[in-house]
Amino acid sequence: MIAVHQLTKHFPEGPNAVDHVSFDIPAGSSVAVLGPSGCGKTTMLRLIAGLEKPDDGIVLVDGRRASDPSWVLPPHLRDIGMVFQTPALWPHLTVEQNILFGVHGLRRREARRRTGELLEMIELEGMGNRYPSQLSGGQSRRVALARALAPRPRHLLLDEPLTSLDRGLKWRMLSVIGSELKREAACLLYVTHDAEEAERVSMRVLQMESGRIPEQGPVS
Ligand SMILES: Nc1ncnc2c1ncn2[C@@H]1O[C@H](COP(=O)(O)OP(=O)(O)OP(=O)(O)O)[C@@H](O)[C@H]1O
Ligand SMILES: [Mg+2]
Repeated sequence: MIAVHQLTKHFPEGPNAVDHVSFDIPAGSSVAVLGPSGCGKTTMLRLIAGLEKPDDGIVLVDGRRASDPSWVLPPHLRDIGMVFQTPALWPHLTVEQNILFGVHGLRRREARRRTGELLEMIELEGMGNRYPSQLSGGQSRRVALARALAPRPRHLLLDEPLTSLDRGLKWRMLSVIGSELKREAACLLYVTHDAEEAERVSMRVLQMESGRIPEQGPVS
């Protein structure tokens, strides 16, 4: 379960980037956030991931207080996988090494099996030894997705992860995300500009506008 209550973030200039937002994502469900450029979607994801500290409000992850204005649980302790809007792959690591970056404690054989499985899912079999500079934009995005999925995080926060993919590939990647998330406790928060994509990927679509999301009822 992920829940945010009255979540607010203010940067030195301008109005609140995220303005008293409350909603929850019950265990096993998915929510998409749609909204115009600059309305606060990425900032909200970064708050939930623990990459920004809120000025007001709280973030709960699996019932535990993960952020409030006085304290932020570090991102790596939240069991959350994230795909950033601009996928920053490590340029000096191969595709395979990038995918395994956040995976710890796997034996060599298991790690190879996991990368093989992920490369197949993202339709990049045979490209494990390439470097990011040798990939197209859409291929880099898929590697970033595989990197987020590799440690099998409980929750996923995806910030326009499939931009620049053609439609067919986009729908296939959505089913990869769906199949990887078929665990009871998993939550998905998916940011996109594409209303059709939002409908396909999620059980509930929230509209964000100028840092606000219309009231979603009490935090459960
Ligand atoms: N580090 C920062 N410092 C100052 N202002 C920021 C910072 N990060 C974001 N902002 C501002 O906060 C607002 C929300 O930005 P955010 O990136 O969350 O929007 P977004 O909805 O993700 O937009 P897009 O769809 O273009 O990605 C914008 O006005 C942006 O300029
Ligand atoms: Mg954004």
